[in-house]
Amino acid sequence: EAWFAVSGRLRGRRVLVTAGGTMERLDPVRYITNDSSGKMGFAIAEAARLMGAEVTVVAGRTTAAPPSGVALVKVESAQQMLEAVTELYDEMDIVVKAAAVADYRAASISGTKLKKDGERLTLALERTTDILETLGKRKKHQFLVGFAAETEQIERYAMDKLRRKHCDLIVANDVSADGAGFNGDTNIVSVYGEEGLIEAMPLLSKRETASRLLELVAERLPQFGG
Ligand code: CTP
Ligand code: CA
Repeated sequence: EAWFAVSGRLRGRRVLVTAGGTMERLDPVRYITNDSSGKMGFAIAEAARLMGAEVTVVAGRTTAAPPSGVALVKVESAQQMLEAVTELYDEMDIVVKAAAVADYRAASISGTKLKKDGERLTLALERTTDILETLGKRKKHQFLVGFAAETEQIERYAMDKLRRKHCDLIVANDVSADGAGFNGDTNIVSVYGEEGLIEAMPLLSKRETASRLLELVAERLPQFGG
């Protein structure tokens, strides 16, 4: 597996990876989250380190173990992830947004435990800030890689996200396919750039997917001083 080949292709580059799912609190004992394990983001962080990069991971809720040799910042909510990532953004060369960020959070967080009352409960939710879109708008020298989790019309939605969020690459995964998406140790991704489809990867381990993705990133980086 190419994974074991340590290359220096990202030596000296500062890489920020987000991983895992956000947790959006409802009350002191409950929250809304998603199935993200953090495995894809952690695999990217580890691959970047093996390629010589200086790596920081901003992680939400994860079930996998983080890699060693990277700086780890733990957050809960989409808002906290936004703040952590924004703070680090200027000093980064490459940002990979693999986290599964909540699109909505509770419109108000109850300070006391919500009591059951009646047969039906309606929760009021409000949109979170799109972190990747925010980074895209503020992009200077950074190489920005987004993810797109889709179940249909993958190319169309992935290209929409690439353009709307000003990404250099979008990694689309069909989260409804066997062996792809949340939680497993494998993934099936297609990588898109401004020019369209760049590489449709077969079913691979998340580690192998990560190192192939970073090879594509490395090929597209401006040279130091150039
Ligand atoms: N993302 C983000 N902040 C959000 C929501 C998403 O930074 N509040 C990022 C994710 O980390 C991912 C990319 O945007 O890199 C795409 O996420 P995805 O859920 O696939 O797309 P959305 O733009 O949220 O659209 P939708 O869920 O409606 O498909
Ligand atoms: Ca979303």
